[in-house]
Amino acid sequence: MKNKNPFSSTSTVFKDASTFDQGWIPDWRTNPLPCRNDEINSLTALFKPVLTQNGKYCVNALILGRGGVGKTITSKYFGRIFRDAAMEQDMSMLAEYVDCNEHSTRNAILRSVLSKLKLSTGRGYSDPELMKQLVAFLKNNNHYLFLILDEVHKLEPDDLLSFINASITFGSHNVRMSFLCSSRSQDWLRYGTERLTSRIQKVYTFKPYNTEECYEILKYRNQLAFYSETFSDDILKMVAEISADEKNMRTGIEILRQVALHLDENNNKVATAEMIRKAGGNTISNYNTDLLNYLSSEHEYLVLLAVARFFKYHDKTYITTKEINEQYDIVSEEYGIKPLKFATLKRYIKRIEDFRLLSKTFALPEGKKRGRESRYSLNSFSAELLEEQLTKMLDNLYP
Ligand SMILES: Nc1ncnc2c1ncn2[C@@H]1O[C@H](COP(=O)(O)OP(=O)(O)O)[C@@H](O)[C@H]1O
Ligand SMILES: [Mg+2]
Repeated sequence: MKNKNPFSSTSTVFKDASTFDQGWIPDWRTNPLPCRNDEINSLTALFKPVLTQNGKYCVNALILGRGGVGKTITSKYFGRIFRDAAMEQDMSMLAEYVDCNEHSTRNAILRSVLSKLKLSTGRGYSDPELMKQLVAFLKNNNHYLFLILDEVHKLEPDDLLSFINASITFGSHNVRMSFLCSSRSQDWLRYGTERLTSRIQKVYTFKPYNTEECYEILKYRNQLAFYSETFSDDILKMVAEISADEKNMRTGIEILRQVALHLDENNNKVATAEMIRKAGGNTISNYNTDLLNYLSSEHEYLVLLAVARFFKYHDKTYITTKEINEQYDIVSEEYGIKPLKFATLKRYIKRIEDFRLLSKTFALPEGKKRGRESRYSLNSFSAELLEEQLTKMLDNLYP
């Protein structure tokens, strides 16, 4: 019997897996950067004088925001636009991205920049000497350096200061470089001092993407990365909610990738809501089933069980209040508990929502022209696991 190479028989939902690469950014000439257009426009205005003054201009900017709000992708995307604009007017510009986790000293950064410029750097040079060499080279060759310093708080404050102070140290007409720094707000809070901040001309604070924005971004990334039948719009909406809840775009993108790998492993083509819930649960590390311990009333357990049952047997992304009520009546009867009236039940649903076990959105009822219904989704638990766990708990309480 001959073994078949497993690679030969696998199909894939990935159209372009490289869009998940660490350093991936869309090509600005052909692809937009959704939801950060205003920021790109503002950066463009801020750095424009560099081009109009032919490089005799420097400006420092800083992007703050939580993790996963697009700081890195936006600065890189802008870096390409800036470099290409410079090239179009025959100005040579090195737009260099530095992750300060990797290059965490002025020396390492200078050496890497100088080597990109093909300048040899002997061992014996001190940092100030290297800096001088760089400034001189840029000036003599009509070159410009646009340096993106990502996770900038990893640099010694003095090292950062010596960069953003260059125009003072060497004279603003001699210095042909600008800096775009970024850092998580939390990290900057501990790091940024007056003497640093006063050297930064503009600070951007990126807000987390809201649900609609997450949805727009996920639709875009989905269309780049996967064949069209893989993730339906409803599923993408569900992932958008998880991302927006977490205030982190990375979570949503990672869920898509995880689920896609799962599909490939099992030779499936279409993602289901339960797969998303499972991946969501794995991806979101700060989430845990201990939450179940906070629930205090049997009715809360019954409501959750109702929801878990519903999702286990219906491949849907949301459940309406009416459906919760129906399922709840059924499970209450199963355990011989008198079901609550609808008005009271709603209070319990609210409590579960407050614990973020369920998340609520409003939408136009299906098939209707007007009105508003509440829709609940279970985003971070597998319905199957939740059902199993709740059934065990209730079976103990009501044998
Ligand atoms: N506007 C956007 N369009 C497409 N993908 C985005 C966008 N914003 C963020 N992402 C993606 O979300 C993830 C997190 O973004 P990133 O720039 O790394 O965030 P931060 O640097 O703020 O932590 C990355 O995978 C990135 O590609
Ligand atoms: Mg980043």
